[in-house]
Amino acid sequence: METISVDQYSLITGASSGIGRALAIECASRKMNVLLVSLPECGLANFSEELKQTYQVKTSFLEIDLTESAGPSEVFEWVEKKGFKINMLINNAGIGSLGDFSSHSLEKIDYMIHLNIRAVLLLTSSFIPLLKNASKGYILNVGSILSYAPVPYKSMYGSSKAFIYIFSLALKEELRKTGISVSVLTPGPSPTNAEVKSRIESGGFFAKKSILSPDKIARIGLDGLLKCKASILPGVLNKMMAYTRFIIPTKLSLRILGYAFRKNNKRNGAI
Ligand SMILES: NC(=O)c1ccc[n+]([C@@H]2O[C@H](COP(=O)([O-])OP(=O)(O)OC[C@H]3O[C@@H](n4cnc5c(N)ncnc54)[C@H](OP(=O)(O)O)[C@@H]3O)[C@@H](O)[C@H]2O)c1
Repeated sequence: METISVDQYSLITGASSGIGRALAIECASRKMNVLLVSLPECGLANFSEELKQTYQVKTSFLEIDLTESAGPSEVFEWVEKKGFKINMLINNAGIGSLGDFSSHSLEKIDYMIHLNIRAVLLLTSSFIPLLKNASKGYILNVGSILSYAPVPYKSMYGSSKAFIYIFSLALKEELRKTGISVSVLTPGPSPTNAEVKSRIESGGFFAKKSILSPDKIARIGLDGLLKCKASILPGVLNKMMAYTRFIIPTKLSLRILGYAFRKNNKRNGAI
């Protein structure tokens, strides 16, 4: 495992809450300096100060909407202008969805593509040259357990996370000889925002039993990243569920998952 230089920073998107916040705390607790990126008015200033005081690391933050067309490039320009040296990029910001695909507005579809896919690709592309300057560079992209198989009633979100999964594995190979390691973290359910909590609450046995806290996901994620693992899937039950796609025929799996998620969406009033 590499020693992290005291001058280098980990940049984390979606750092104000949930898994991103937990990843920021995990980085700081390991004496990594952190750059926090999230939407305006989400308490980043206080959180940044809290991390600085608690863990005696350097911190800074940028409030920005990553779905704005210039959002990702403004993050890069901020880093360049401030002269921060980056050795770790964590693309965590992302949103989920409830309901079937035909119920989503065009705005919602556009927003999800911009945040879950476009921002990740643009940030990754911009930061690769800076990561190459570090003695060892790391990229952690946050996918989902839904990255592994098609899931009805999660068609748009699941596909966006499948994109992130495939992209990350392919990029890892492309960057193999550059000193940059790419990992994809594919968590199962974690009680973060209100929507996820309500989905877990109304979910079945497996949804409830497979819950992991954002802290645990962050700890496992960072351990895996520093060990240069390709994909990191926290939790034994989650691993078992993800691997069933290799033993259950796709048609049957679609029926089972479709039934479960349709029921869950109904309970949440989404269809
Ligand atoms: N929770 C789960 O069960 C679960 C499972 C698998 C994968 N994931 C993935 O894990 C990642 C984090 O999810 P989470 O559950 O921790 O979500 P969360 O609690 O809703 O946090 C999302 C973070 O992203 C920020 N964000 C949202 N829209 C943004 C935008 N347009 N520009 C910049 N920042 C934005 C949010 O800022 P605000 O605080 O201002 O909203 C927040 O900091 C996502 O990629 C998600 O898909 C989550």
